[in-house]
Amino acid sequence: MHNDIEKILVTEEELAEVTKKLGEKITRDYAGKKLLIVGVLKGSIYFLTDLSRHIDLPCHIDFVQASSYGSSTVSSGKIEIIKDISDDLTGFDVLLVEDILDTGKTLKHIHDMLSKRNPESIAVVTLLDKPSRREVDIYADYIGIDVPNAFVVGYGLDYDQYYRNLPYIGILKEEIYKN
Ligand code: IMP
Ligand code: MG
Repeated sequence: MHNDIEKILVTEEELAEVTKKLGEKITRDYAGKKLLIVGVLKGSIYFLTDLSRHIDLPCHIDFVQASSYGSSTVSSGKIEIIKDISDDLTGFDVLLVEDILDTGKTLKHIHDMLSKRNPESIAVVTLLDKPSRREVDIYADYIGIDVPNAFVVGYGLDYDQYYRNLPYIGILKEEIYKN
């Protein structure tokens, strides 16, 4: 598994630091609100479990799942919801948790869908952002780390469902997906 990594981009220590900092900021911003944390499966699971332990507030936690890449490294652009949450979000301040914002199509679709359910507010926290790749109008309110335009895996991020359990984030060797 480690042999397939070209370069480590974010170490375990950096991940711990970034999630702590984001969690503390979110704690300050959401004090007194009715917080609903919504993770986008499956990529956000490691980030969500670490981040939420630094959010020192009462909250609900739920998940949505959108159609995935399949085994390709580029988004098909066709988004399908596989797992949904409640139809009524009245009173909730929703915090969407993503692993990476790439073209933005997945998150835009989910954001638009949840906006129609009368939430008090919706914000986005993403661990990684690839701003150079954005194709639709969506931005994150909280960003962990900007990354270059390379295919990265680990800490929840996969290639063909593998590598999610790498404890760090690394650039995958091109030879793994170019044949
Ligand atoms: P988007 O719809 O193009 O923004 O794609 C977002 C989703 O694609 C993310 O939630 C990831 O699951 C996946 N993705 C995008 N870039 C990468 C990457 O570099 N490595 C692994 N997954 C990625
Ligand atoms: Mg994802």
